[in-house]
This record gives sequence, C-alpha cells and structure tokens, in this order.
Amino acid sequence: MATIHIDNLTKRYRGKSTPALNHISLEIQSGMFGLLGKNGAGKSTLLKILTTLEQPTAGSITVNGIAIRNKAKIRNLIGYLPQHFGFYPNMKVFDALTYLAILAKVPPRQQKHRINQLLDEVNLSAQSTAKIKSLSGGMLQRLGIAQALINDPQVLIVDEPTAGLDPEERIRLRNLLTSFAQNRTVILSTHIVSDIAATTNKLGILNEGNLIFHGNSQKLIANAKGHLFETRLLNDQLPHFKLNHQLTEQISEDSSVKIRFLSQNPVSDATPVLPTLEEVYLYLQTVHEEVIK
Ligand SMILES: Nc1ncnc2c1ncn2[C@@H]1O[C@H](COP(=O)(O)OP(=O)(O)O)[C@@H](O)[C@H]1O
Ligand SMILES: [Mg+2]
Repeated sequence: MATIHIDNLTKRYRGKSTPALNHISLEIQSGMFGLLGKNGAGKSTLLKILTTLEQPTAGSITVNGIAIRNKAKIRNLIGYLPQHFGFYPNMKVFDALTYLAILAKVPPRQQKHRINQLLDEVNLSAQSTAKIKSLSGGMLQRLGIAQALINDPQVLIVDEPTAGLDPEERIRLRNLLTSFAQNRTVILSTHIVSDIAATTNKLGILNEGNLIFHGNSQKLIANAKGHLFETRLLNDQLPHFKLNHQLTEQISEDSSVKIRFLSQNPVSDATPVLPTLEEVYLYLQTVHEEVIK
C-alpha cells in the first residue's frame, strides 16, 4: 500500500505564460484515485512528474516518504501506462512483454511465469502469440497495463486509458483497474466523468493547471446543490433562455422541451434537482473559469 504526498507543486514549461500546474497539494492513499480534467488541464504533466519523467518547477512529491528525485527508487514503486503508448507492431504479444521484462530487470528465471500470469490477469492469454498490430484498441490498452505491472509495482498510473474505446472495452478496462486497485494505489486520469463514476468516489479535478476539487463524490455533489434546475419551456422560448443559462440536458417533446440547467442563483419558476456528477463537473469548471476571467 502506498501513500503519495504532493505539496505545493508547480510546473512551468519554457515559453508558456501560464503554468501547466499551479500550486497543487494533494494526498493520495491506497485504492483507486480518479484524476479528472479536460484537455490541457495538466493531467499528463502531473502524472509525468510523478513518474519522474518531468521535473517540477517548484514543490515536492513523496511516494511512501521517498522524494521523487530518487528516480530509481521511485521507478521501482511505480508502473506507468502513458497516454500515447506504442509497441512494435510486428512483435508478438509474449515477445513484447519479454523484451520489456528484460528492460525492467525481471530475473530471467521468473520472466515466463510473470508474463503468463499478467496475460491471464489482463485477459490476453489467448493473444499470447498474436502480433501486436492485430490487437483491438481495448486489447492494446490491456497489454499496456500488463507492461506497467511487469515489476509488480505498488502504484499503477494510467493516463487516459479509456479514450477511444467502445463501451464494452471501456467497461472491461475499468473493471480490470478496479480489481488491481484492491491491493495497490491506482491513479486513473480521464476526461470522461462516467469513468470516475464507475470506478471510484475519490477524485481530484484539474482545470487549467488548478486543482479545483479534491475529495469524494458525495462532497462533489454537495458543491453544486441548489445550482441545478429542471423546467419545461415552449420550443420558441428556448433560444432566448439559452442566451442566459447553461443547459445540461434538453429533451424535445412535441411543442415543448424539458431542460436541466445550471444557475448560480435560485430560480423561482424552476424545480431544483440533484445534479449528476457530470453536471457538478460542468458547474465547477464554469465557476472556476468565471473567477479567472
Ligand atoms: N512538453 C511541453 N512543453 C510545453 N508545454 C506543454 C508541454 N506538455 C504540456 N504542455 C502544456 O501544458 C498544459 C497541460 O498539458 P497536459 O499536462 O498535457 O494536459 P492534459 O493531460 O490534462 O491534457 C497545456 O497547456 C499544454 O499545452
Ligand atoms: Mg494528457
């Protein structure tokens, strides 16, 4: 079981006026942690710093008390599936993992057993002798997870692994990660709210380099309580209403339309409703971006 402490972390890339990460403080315990944020929020930057591939500009991170400048020690603790991961397309699945096991210094006598065990765990035993280029997107991601686990790390970091997968593979991958999180720390980054809702209630939300939320999903929903409403409008009222309100749902029914929308202030002629995770996420981003403007 691993504990990660992130303290006042800032990352500035050369030539950029705004920081990719802005004074982030966060503690991550064992189990699954979801890192949510849209494109450019800073997710990959944070994960790359955690895996020692990027250096922070300021601040500190420890994993089980070990500072990340101890690269070799940290790399032994962490397995990583980057956002863009490529295998040699003409290699066979088993051979690719053997190659990576050698690089990861898995003792030769343990390699075969370890790889077979991993292929079984990620449900790819039947593809052992298949060429990488013949695998589906979901299979490739599962192979990516197998390579990240080759050293049996205490922490597994996966950067947007569900992007581009069809629903069936997405669900399969999420279930796999949940099972690995039973005896590890798993950090899952995503821009898809349902990935978080389906796997964990511990999450952080990054927006333009700022950590705008950290806690569980109950606390997240409480944040937007009283800011989500439902009402019904006539079709021709809709365009005007849209000018002043952010709609989260819009269901047409003949000449009227049922809508859900966000509002900072109470609305007299609409019914307050409990927001979904996706609506809270939208609400927090909107509030944050208005504060910045
Ligand atoms: N190597 C880099 N050099 C300069 N800017 C970068 C680099 N990597 C990321 N950025 C910038 O940092 C910000 C955060 O990017 P990133 O961490 O990739 O976000 P995310 O993974 O959430 O999409 C973006 O504005 C991006 O353009
Ligand atoms: Mg990214």
